[in-house]
Amino acid sequence: MTYIPGLEGVVAARTRLSFVDGQAGELFIGGFPVEVLAPHATFEEAAFLLWHDRLPDAAELRDLHDRFVAARELPGEVVDLLRAAADRNAPVIDALRMAAAALSLDDPDPQHNDPANNLRRAEQLCARFPVVVATYWRMRHGQAPIAPRADLDHAANCLYMLNGTAPDAEAARALETYFVTVIDHGMNASTFTARVITSTQSDLYSAITGAIGALKGPAHGGAPGPALDMVFEIGQLDKAEANIRGRLERGERLMGFGHRVYKVRDPRADVLAAAADRLFQRAGDRSLYDMARGVEAVALRLLEEYKPGRKLQTNVEYYTAMVLHGVGLPTELFTPMFAVGRAGGWSAHCLEQWTDNRLIRPSSDYLGVKDRAWVPIDRR
Ligand code: COA
Repeated sequence: MTYIPGLEGVVAARTRLSFVDGQAGELFIGGFPVEVLAPHATFEEAAFLLWHDRLPDAAELRDLHDRFVAARELPGEVVDLLRAAADRNAPVIDALRMAAAALSLDDPDPQHNDPANNLRRAEQLCARFPVVVATYWRMRHGQAPIAPRADLDHAANCLYMLNGTAPDAEAARALETYFVTVIDHGMNASTFTARVITSTQSDLYSAITGAIGALKGPAHGGAPGPALDMVFEIGQLDKAEANIRGRLERGERLMGFGHRVYKVRDPRADVLAAAADRLFQRAGDRSLYDMARGVEAVALRLLEEYKPGRKLQTNVEYYTAMVLHGVGLPTELFTPMFAVGRAGGWSAHCLEQWTDNRLIRPSSDYLGVKDRAWVPIDRR
């Protein structure tokens, strides 16, 4: 058996949920090219598509919306937990990880893994994630949490619960587009984590909690905050060359660039760039967006100069930063928002894994010795 670092190129699952072609720069989600699905579908529609392998009709979508609305109330213990985390100023993504684990508290039988219950849990977890994030964010800033609004969809309600005002249609649409763009993406690290946990016949809460832990690292979902920080630090386009050169000279990685699978431009970057373009145009000030595009061009040129042949291109996180900043979200909420969107894919992967499960249990190359002699503690 051959050791393959990072399992690169290893096929670890069969899925109908999404297909990533890293050479052609294509992504299909539930059978749709991402550039077709993301600007049109709501999060609820896209999640239904992944869970059921078809789009919902109008009545089904209304029913799903009603179930999402009903699920938005958090168990009291979870609210208490969020308050304790806020008292200690825990990062938002950590609060979401803690809350995800505790959301099993009002599940009458969290270990009972039959398909109907797991679908209900998937819906409930997805519906609750933005509520957790918004509730926690307000608590941490000494503000009273805001009750959800039943007339608002997933993204609009999320912004409403954060800010206390309903967003305009453009901002709500941009956030829906973001959620759908990131809802699923092949066998990425957090999805793999969720499938590994599911393969042991564990429960959905455990799988999704583990997935959040995998997502938060900067090599996966933690990049858009630093990507935006870089653009702000550069401040003016004519300073981009010196700033980026400095970073590459110091051996730093440019956040928002490079990808394990995409060796051409990440198609999600274009979908989100278009959404960001619309947002900034509406706001009447395209200066940040125009600078980001300029910084991107300099970064790509210098990456090719410093890392020739590595095919480092813009990834989803760079324009995620533009969209999420454009809808008024602070950088600390970027990774939690990624989790809110990806929860749709994680839960669908868990449902898929359960339908055709085999324990995921790879091997390892042993590098240790085999000839140690036991020395009693008083003689060590
Ligand atoms: N900036 C500068 N150099 C980069 C780079 C980046 N963003 N991404 C990769 N490289 C370089 C590596 O240093 C390495 O150089 P070397 O051959 O001289 O050692 C080479 O490109 C290959 O990198 P490797 O670590 O093998 O790629 P990977 O497939 O393991 O990494 C990422 C993929 C995403 C982890 C990596 O590109 C990265 O760290 N990007 C920045 C973080 C980010 O945007 N994450 C979000 C991903 S959606």
